[in-house]
Amino acid sequence: MISIGPADRVFVLTGAGISAESGLPTFRASDGLWAGHRVEDVCTPEALELNPALVWQFYSERREQGAKAAPNPAHVALAKLEAELGDRFFLCTQNVDDLHERAGSKRLVHMHGELAKSRCEDDCGELPVEDHTVYKSLDEVGRCKCGARLRPHIVFFGEIPLEMDRIQREIARATLMVVVGTSGSVYPAANFVHWARQAGARTVYIGPEPPLNAHAFTNVVEGKAGEVLPELFELS
Ligand code: APR
Repeated sequence: MISIGPADRVFVLTGAGISAESGLPTFRASDGLWAGHRVEDVCTPEALELNPALVWQFYSERREQGAKAAPNPAHVALAKLEAELGDRFFLCTQNVDDLHERAGSKRLVHMHGELAKSRCEDDCGELPVEDHTVYKSLDEVGRCKCGARLRPHIVFFGEIPLEMDRIQREIARATLMVVVGTSGSVYPAANFVHWARQAGARTVYIGPEPPLNAHAFTNVVEGKAGEVLPELFELS
């Protein structure tokens, strides 16, 4: 049990593991998303330039898979915690699926982008647009108002994650950081636990195995998110 008192502010970071029980594969498992692909071929600015058809095929498949998945008890437990804590709760997800929103989470940022959005390939300044289309070929992909092709609203390797200022502010004022289902291998997210500790927060990890940065946590709870989270928090 993790106790949360009236003076606590909670920052939650989630990774692919929280959506595993919804049937969405993680990235680095032996049968994970990267198992069938080289990251450089589908998730880098260079890949988009050299082979946009493959990049769009990969993210169209992710859209198709994401639309079929439903939130699991771990997503629901975090939405419930937010309903209790209000502005003392903040959720940062590395996931590009929308399962947190569909479970009822509101105070959240998608630091690695969102599957259901597209944006201008030339970053002309137009905002990302909602786009659920599963494209069958590159010819079908829409155009921005400026004429450039749309790209997935995904943060590729080598690009700067979204909303970092807001994330840093929220970490600095959190008293408890809860990290769920992430291998701790992608930065800057893998550093958040260090930033939270510097700010004096308690730090807890939940997942079936310790992440790469396990040593930095005050507490590691080994188990599946959907089984652990619904029973984890004790509010006073
Ligand atoms: N509950 C909790 N955690 C789980 C579960 C579960 N049921 N099943 C698996 N996990 C854990 C695994 O133990 C692993 O540590 O989820 C983690 C998934 O790790 P990764 O596949 O590396 O995914 P993630 O850490 O989210 O990747 C970070 O890398 O590829 C990029 O941009 C992509 O956002 C992604 C980032």
